[in-house]
Amino acid sequence: MEIEVDLLTKEQAKAELQRLVPALAAADIAYHQKDSPEISDAEYDALKRRYLAIEARFPDLKHEDSPSQKVGAPVASGFSKVKHAVAMMSLGNAFDDEDVFEFDDRIRKFLNIPAGKSLSYTAEPKIDGLSLSLRYESGRLVQAATRGDGETGENVTENALTVRDIPKEISGAPEVLEVRGEVYMSHDDFAQLNVDQLANEDKLFANPRNAAAGSLRQLDSGITKTRALHFFAYAWGELSAPLATTQAAAIDHLTEFGFSTNPLTKTCVNTGELLEHFRDIEAKRALLGYDIDGVVYKVNDLGLQERLGYRTNTPRWAIAHKFPAEMASTVIEDIEIQVGRTGALSPVARLKPVTVGGVVVSNATLHNEDYIAGRDSNGQPIREGRDIRIGDWVTVYRAGDVIPKVKDVDISRRAKDSKPYEFPKKCPECGSDAIREEGEAVSRCTGGLICPAQAVEKLKHFVSRTAFNIEGLGAKQVETFYADGWVQEPADIFTLPVRYGDGSLQQLKNREGWGAKSAEKLFSAIKERQNIPLNRLIFGLGIRHVGESSAMTLARHYGSWPNFSSAMENARDHSGADWDALNAIDGVGAVMAAALVDYFHQEQTRAALDRLVQHLRIETVRPPSVEGSKVVGKTIVFTGTLEKVTRAEAKAKAESLGAKVSGSVSAKTDIVVAGPGAGSKRKKAEELGVEVLSEDEWISLIA
Ligand code: IVH
Repeated sequence: MEIEVDLLTKEQAKAELQRLVPALAAADIAYHQKDSPEISDAEYDALKRRYLAIEARFPDLKHEDSPSQKVGAPVASGFSKVKHAVAMMSLGNAFDDEDVFEFDDRIRKFLNIPAGKSLSYTAEPKIDGLSLSLRYESGRLVQAATRGDGETGENVTENALTVRDIPKEISGAPEVLEVRGEVYMSHDDFAQLNVDQLANEDKLFANPRNAAAGSLRQLDSGITKTRALHFFAYAWGELSAPLATTQAAAIDHLTEFGFSTNPLTKTCVNTGELLEHFRDIEAKRALLGYDIDGVVYKVNDLGLQERLGYRTNTPRWAIAHKFPAEMASTVIEDIEIQVGRTGALSPVARLKPVTVGGVVVSNATLHNEDYIAGRDSNGQPIREGRDIRIGDWVTVYRAGDVIPKVKDVDISRRAKDSKPYEFPKKCPECGSDAIREEGEAVSRCTGGLICPAQAVEKLKHFVSRTAFNIEGLGAKQVETFYADGWVQEPADIFTLPVRYGDGSLQQLKNREGWGAKSAEKLFSAIKERQNIPLNRLIFGLGIRHVGESSAMTLARHYGSWPNFSSAMENARDHSGADWDALNAIDGVGAVMAAALVDYFHQEQTRAALDRLVQHLRIETVRPPSVEGSKVVGKTIVFTGTLEKVTRAEAKAKAESLGAKVSGSVSAKTDIVVAGPGAGSKRKKAEELGVEVLSEDEWISLIA
């Protein structure tokens, strides 16, 4: 029987504290380091409350490592964070032969390589596991990190050290070598693991990839050690010296260092050979013994890779050619309308659940009104004009990780009394009119801020991985917080710790599904995200037509929040110098410019935005690898014919050096690079006294 704190003698209190301190400490370790809490959040809270009450009554008994002395919150996850020296990118996708030809064409155009000239690629399986970056210094494995959001991953060094395929020491390697590849589990080991899990009444894994991820992300490396994990090396990050001059030779070096590299890697001299190898790998797929979901093509010449560089998140020099999606037949039980953050009404088919490629599918997108009716955006028939109705049999497929799609409809199985689907004219969430503008494929809810669906979707977008990425605050939490009136707009997220933290009337930790730990974790994740890079903020606002890469373009162009927001304000009449400058940014079109300016001009939106930025410390965006660059922050205009590189390459290069590329010359232009045939822009530059360089002068400036 526990004695009430008020009735404890000092001796008893002392004994109690001596019991409580280690109990709390053990619970902390189990929770934070082992990911296997031994007591419930409620029990933990009870212990802690009792501890604090005793301490409050007998202040002189305060223990050295009293839980009340622990300032700040624990790290947001059990692993420490690792900032990648070189970001971990993802890959663009090709779904058919045509996409592969286009990939080759784009590269040739960018580099100005004529169709007749050979261009080699490597082709290798795309492993369906999780990517890992291994850092070697002086030949020793010093760090292993997961991909995370591409910029920051989790430190899983202890666990990586238990994976047999991963060399712990290598010889003959550069001083700094980051090897990247995929951790995966074989089919046999996956099956055995689930047998063991079942026997131990532990949770089963859905597929080998989840099993590999779950095994690598164990807080106890002792558990990782018992799991049969493998690793294929296929890329690299930071290097103190180049590995080779071609992709194929670099991979050979990795093999020599002791890494497993995929035996189906092949050098191909044209797209025909790529596709041939694709079909060969596809034929072997079922017998490989591990999951692959496509073939990755990479430009073989590393010099060309360097010239091609990166878009926001993907290299221009590589692509993943995905295997065709598996199809399945099922019935549409209902058609529901979802309202997105910009008010777009999206029809979703609710399906009788069916397994497609190992995953149970119960929803599929129907895109828009025309798609359901059997027309494309130009009014031309699709599916030979067959419409889609509730009750219809359809074939569905999954392409990548996105929401499944409907391939076709089988009207021979259609019920006699079925009726065409009628697309709603009102928003199903707020009842406002839904309007489809001339030339638009989508209908939009006109409810704006009064539409709860738009508000929730905006919040979901705001917290999403590529925007604010607040750990512990996902779509689910946003929905319940919104429903309960805790969070109505982004600014409210940042006041959650004050409104629902320790000492407040209502506390997050007392909510169903939450506890002291999880609440503290969320609060610390929120505080962490008060520091936010400008591009993530711009993207997170969810302005129509402003995607991740446009947000980056804008952030690089304007540099700081005050610059950006005052320019948007000044441009409110769609005229003037700031309006012209916005429209001149390469990658910003008239539609996006209008959406941006109107967003800032809308009174209520603007007020909500002001409330939000009060809580933030907005980081200026650092252009990539600009060390030694002479053009950081400068505005460049290319005009006339460039003879050494294509316009696209010149632009990409300038941007990678931290410059902004603009399409028109103004007083803000720093350099005009004029090739033969340059006309009015060159003239204007001369009038304004802007520096004019020839292509050769430009090349030597950036060399
Ligand atoms: S190359 C700069 N090669 O696919 C891009 N990636 O969808 C470097 N992946 O995040 C990646 N097999 O985790 C590359 N043979 C392979 C791969 C591969 C699997 C994964 C990787 C990446 C994802 C992109």
